[in-house]
Amino acid sequence: MKASFFLLFLLAFCSSIHKTLPTTKTDLISTNQLIKDGETIVSSRGTFELGFFSPSGSSNRYIGIWYKQILPYVQTVVWVANREKPLTNTSSAVLKVSKPGTLALLNDKNETIWSTNTSRSVQNPVAMLLDTGNLVVKDAKDDYPEDFLWQSFHFPTDTHMPGMKLGKNFKTRHEVYLSAWKNNNDPAPGEFTRNIDPTGYPQALTKRGTSVSARIGPWNGLRFSGSPIPLLECCHFHFIFNKEEVYYSFSLINSSVLTRLVLTSNGDIQRLTWVDRTKRWNIYYNLPADNCDTYSLCGAYGSCDIDNTPTCGCLEKFIAKHTQQWEKGDWSEGCVRRTPLDCNKEHVFRKYSRIKLPDTKHSQYDKTMTLEGCRQVCSRNCSCTAYSSLDVSNGDKGCLFWFGELIDIRKLPERGQDIYIRMDSSEQESEAGSKIKKEKILAVSFSLLMAMILLSLIMLLYKRKRKKLKLKEDSELPVFQLSTITRATNNFSESNKIGEGGFGPVYKGVLEEGQEIAVKRLSRTSMQGLDEYKNEVIYIAKLQHRNLVRLLGCCIQGEEKMLIYEYMPNKSLNSYIFDKTKSKLLDWPKSFDIINGIARGLLYLHQDSRLRIIHRDLKASNVLLDTDMNPKISDFGLARSVAGNEMGAKTRNVVGTHGYMSPEYVIDGIFSVKSDVFSFGVLVLEIVSCKRNRGFFHQDHNLNLLGHVWKLYKEDRSLELIDEPLADSCHISQMLRSIQVGLLCVQQRPDDRPSMFSVVQMLTNESLLPKAKEPGFFTERNIFDEAKSGSQTASSKNEVTITLLDPR
Ligand SMILES: *[C@@H]1O[C@H](CO)[C@@H](O)[C@H](O)[C@H]1NC(C)=O
Ligand SMILES: *[C@@H]1O[C@H](CO)[C@@H](O)[C@H](O)[C@H]1NC(C)=O
Ligand SMILES: *[C@@H]1O[C@H](CO)[C@@H](O)[C@H](O)[C@H]1NC(C)=O
Ligand SMILES: *[C@@H]1O[C@H](CO)[C@@H](O)[C@H](O)[C@H]1NC(C)=O
Repeated sequence: MKASFFLLFLLAFCSSIHKTLPTTKTDLISTNQLIKDGETIVSSRGTFELGFFSPSGSSNRYIGIWYKQILPYVQTVVWVANREKPLTNTSSAVLKVSKPGTLALLNDKNETIWSTNTSRSVQNPVAMLLDTGNLVVKDAKDDYPEDFLWQSFHFPTDTHMPGMKLGKNFKTRHEVYLSAWKNNNDPAPGEFTRNIDPTGYPQALTKRGTSVSARIGPWNGLRFSGSPIPLLECCHFHFIFNKEEVYYSFSLINSSVLTRLVLTSNGDIQRLTWVDRTKRWNIYYNLPADNCDTYSLCGAYGSCDIDNTPTCGCLEKFIAKHTQQWEKGDWSEGCVRRTPLDCNKEHVFRKYSRIKLPDTKHSQYDKTMTLEGCRQVCSRNCSCTAYSSLDVSNGDKGCLFWFGELIDIRKLPERGQDIYIRMDSSEQESEAGSKIKKEKILAVSFSLLMAMILLSLIMLLYKRKRKKLKLKEDSELPVFQLSTITRATNNFSESNKIGEGGFGPVYKGVLEEGQEIAVKRLSRTSMQGLDEYKNEVIYIAKLQHRNLVRLLGCCIQGEEKMLIYEYMPNKSLNSYIFDKTKSKLLDWPKSFDIINGIARGLLYLHQDSRLRIIHRDLKASNVLLDTDMNPKISDFGLARSVAGNEMGAKTRNVVGTHGYMSPEYVIDGIFSVKSDVFSFGVLVLEIVSCKRNRGFFHQDHNLNLLGHVWKLYKEDRSLELIDEPLADSCHISQMLRSIQVGLLCVQQRPDDRPSMFSVVQMLTNESLLPKAKEPGFFTERNIFDEAKSGSQTASSKNEVTITLLDPR
């Protein structure tokens, strides 16, 4: 009773805070105004919001800016102020603007934790959040962008926003660069940075510490020379390089498009665009796109070709510097000219086409010359090793000259450029030589043609054979080679194993492109999982929703059957909620997000997907968490599709997991969308209480978790259910609402349970909820024992399936 009094007091206290601190609706903080935790400012058109936030998996508080419009789906933070100095207590922390013109964050002891600086003093400083996501400090009456005292676009964290200039001002010597987060839970500067390096001709570099990890090449007037794919059509791209500054930026053509460039904590550059239909960020490209984007993988004069094995080769007319090392796959020493250069002899420039231009660290440029002029200038100085056109946007214009070895070249068959490399004159191709070459080419082409015909024949046969499996046709799912998966999982090594599902082990793997995957491998010996395997391929491949786990492909080769999923670094929900220490990482807002996410995923299955699917095995261990702790429903091995207007069906094969199965399903084998709703209800109560339904123990009674919750609810003591770590936060009405929704979902009669549509509504609205009736199976132990002895359901085979699915 004491605890509930305390909580009621807390509730009253919270609501009083709520009344006295309404969320700020303006886009600026005026002089001496204080912004406290819980208050925010919003840009004038409502695109961005600034306030306190905690990254997922952390309870530290930071000041940050995020997209306001997509906040119902995901909190995407684009900038962090006090990234190195988080606050743990924000009870009296404030953000304030003061004279002469600074914005500062003060902790609860009134100490400045973070502050902007200014070189001048103004009468009436304000901080304003612009609709571009730029936070600026300026004089209240000044509207000239040049007059900002300070702006966040000059101090970005990991995100390059439209309108932000990434680069260097040569006058002020101020450099604007991206700096990755340490990890998803910690915005402190990590290992990676991304800048426009002005040494030589400027180029975009990703660095790990001080060493270059990836390079996209110099700007060629249209794009960066090593751009993997066409530029996104959303935007105009700008690269400005003059005496005063060098910068790269992009601007939106249609301002309602959301797109950003992010440097991830593992050093990847990602271009993301928001897709309104799916309510998630789509990765337009990821750099490094493949192994060939690893900086200097093939050494000097080596050329990386991702379609070749091995990927590294020497440029034509070049040979490995150390043949033995090279053949062993150690390419770091690179290649040298077959005929060494002698500065006293005559040279020619040989053209190499369709490549990503080499590192421009040791380069010089001229913006006006023609290509012929470039050749003449380069030929005059023996240390000039190569030249190319500087700007290909409108014919060839200007020159880029390289001095010293050429490093970090890759083949780009479609988007590469030409470079002219200094060679001994004996390497010039003679007329006669080229004739012989032509004949050779003819002969080679003929044999190639024959080979291709043969290959297509083999492929045809192979495909026919595969058709028998009837899986690819059903699903249009990418098929992975066994060798690819073996390599990715380190030959299914024990250290890569991340779990043991009902039908076999699950491994973590990394594809050559760097993508992390989870591989579910069907036990070779058992035939048991085959139906479930097929089931999963058929259903999940057709489903796409941000709260469903994504299947990337499958692999069937000989005895091996595997499913390849996106990798979920945070494992499954049960590893959090049922773990004393890890459950502390989930604060209430996160838990509530998870409940809502699962609800939306299930609603999609029941109502919005083309198939109308009943999952039949929803439980905490089948909800996976991505890096941002977004829940994703997984394991469709038992799912069933029902016709569009049908709500359910009957089966003799009762499969599922104890503790989550509804009474009508266990006893009569009737499954419907409402049996999923039941499982959802159990899950909600488990999340709120951080206790398992099955195996729940209470000293006062013999009830399971549902019974316990029901008892408390009837006695108006629901708050006692709430797990301590969650109770810290001021969200008690949301918690009580979730408990009641959970109870409504587990009601005895299926017709009394709400549909997932109503559940989603009930969770998000403030409307009055109906009173819950008695739950089904609140003394599960007894009823279930009865059911087990009844002959309708439990043939011994089914029991095996049931136990298999319940990995305790
Ligand atoms: C915080 O410090 C400032 C100046 O140091 C002072 O003017 C102000 O009164 C202090 N506020 C509190 C609440 O102590
Ligand atoms: C402001 O601080 C940054 C570092 O935080 C520094 O690079 C810059 O020179 C400072 N500017 C002024 C005007 O003091
Ligand atoms: C901008 O994009 C929005 C949403 O994609 C679209 O509805 C609108 O028509 C577009 N406006 C223009 C001018 O293309
Ligand atoms: C060749 O160019 C390099 C780099 O610009 C320069 O240091 C060197 O003096 C030049 N040599 C001659 C002979 O002009």
